[in-house]
Amino acid sequence: MNTQKHLYIETFGCQMNDRDSEIMAQLMAKENFAPTSDIACADAIIVNTCSIRGKAEQKAYSLLGALRKQKKENPNLLIAVTGCVAQQEGKKMLVRMPHVNLVVGPQNIYQLPALFEKAGRRSKGLVVTELSKEFMIPPFLPTMERGLPHKRFVTIMQGCNNFCTYCIVPYTRGREVSRKCEEILQEIIHLVAGGVKEITLLGQNVNSYGNDQPQEQRTTFPELLRLVAEIKGIERLRFTTSNPKDLSEELMRCFADIDTLCPHFHLPVQSGSNKVLKKMNRKYTIENYLEKVEKLRKYSPDITLTTDIIVGFPGEEDEDFQATMDLIEKVRYHSAFSFKYSSRPPAKSCEFEETVTEEEKIKRLAILQDRQNVITKERNEEYVGQLMELMIEGESKMDGQWCGRSKTNHTVNFESKDTFIPGQLVMVKIKSTCQNSLLGELLVKNEK
Ligand code: SAH
Ligand code: SF4
Ligand code: F3S
Repeated sequence: MNTQKHLYIETFGCQMNDRDSEIMAQLMAKENFAPTSDIACADAIIVNTCSIRGKAEQKAYSLLGALRKQKKENPNLLIAVTGCVAQQEGKKMLVRMPHVNLVVGPQNIYQLPALFEKAGRRSKGLVVTELSKEFMIPPFLPTMERGLPHKRFVTIMQGCNNFCTYCIVPYTRGREVSRKCEEILQEIIHLVAGGVKEITLLGQNVNSYGNDQPQEQRTTFPELLRLVAEIKGIERLRFTTSNPKDLSEELMRCFADIDTLCPHFHLPVQSGSNKVLKKMNRKYTIENYLEKVEKLRKYSPDITLTTDIIVGFPGEEDEDFQATMDLIEKVRYHSAFSFKYSSRPPAKSCEFEETVTEEEKIKRLAILQDRQNVITKERNEEYVGQLMELMIEGESKMDGQWCGRSKTNHTVNFESKDTFIPGQLVMVKIKSTCQNSLLGELLVKNEK
């Protein structure tokens, strides 16, 4: 008899990992593994890891360490490690975590059911972490049968060729590989037919989509966006992430031309100092960056800009940090993710001498975050009195309130006794702000 088994997935890291977890859940569902949120009752556990900073890696290891006990109590439990730490560590993972059955790199997750099968029959762990130049994201994957959520990520490319000196991603995700345009469109048509209303196109550097294809067959990222936008039924279109060096005017123009393209741009700057940017191998200067921001705002005056910033990069002096502080005053980002620099061998910067002490990094991060919080609050206040169309996410944590997301990617809560379904559109008027969200008043329920 084919008894139902349960799969628990813990996902760390970026949206690429979120999407990979969805794919793994789908593949395993076909093998009779139902998803569970209760790790204690799982027959199989996947820890989908992130390696971007030392802390992310430690989180994965501490969860894996804690699973030792569960494995001892239930020797039939299958534990798989996937994602960027799996790719990076390979066989070493089994030395540190001998109770792990399976170590699978991001390019190899598509064979997961067969690998689980094989690992289940072995006494020793199985490691599959080949990174191939010829790798192709397999075409079109089945979607969940139990109904789709209202928004989905669609991977348009894998890997990264940029080799920013601090970054592990090119080592864990391999070289850039773009999916075929027709496959992407087909997947989106299928999702929209299933009721999906919002699509986010995903890649580490979406602006270089198509650059790995021969010139004659190439579809550029702006061209892809326009093709996707033509698919009927898409209410909202987003993408992430972009390296500023590849942000073209053609892409900026899309914000003016495509109604469904949401006016939010995540444009990681990393540092406000040209000296640091050069050492990071980011291939743009702050002057170029600011020019692009200005132009982008001409094409889309209401666009919200968010960014990523690293403090304490090797060689970052007080004046370099000050340049980052000056930059956030100039751009006035709607919000920013900021991180302490973390050395990630074999990324190039691990050879650079660490000149900023941990204490100084903590201090700089706190100064930056305190100031950005004020800017974010002021930015949020600019919306008070404005009308916003929200796409419902669900009930808010606050009793009697609902939560939606604006096109500008703000979380907005509002009070209502009505019932809403995720993906539904409503209009609200913004009444006040909190640090991480806005508070609105419901105006119209749009039945779309
Ligand atoms: N592909 C994206 C970035 C992905 S990583 C891009 O190019 O913008 C997400 C963020 O993590 C980066 O933007 C960077 O700010 C941060 N990051 C990456 N490596 C880091 C490191 N070694 N130490 C600290 N932060 C890092
Ligand atoms: Fe990492 Fe740079 Fe590639 Fe982004 S563009 S993934 S920061 S190497
Ligand atoms: Fe982390 Fe890998 Fe994404 S290192 S940020 S999970 S690409």
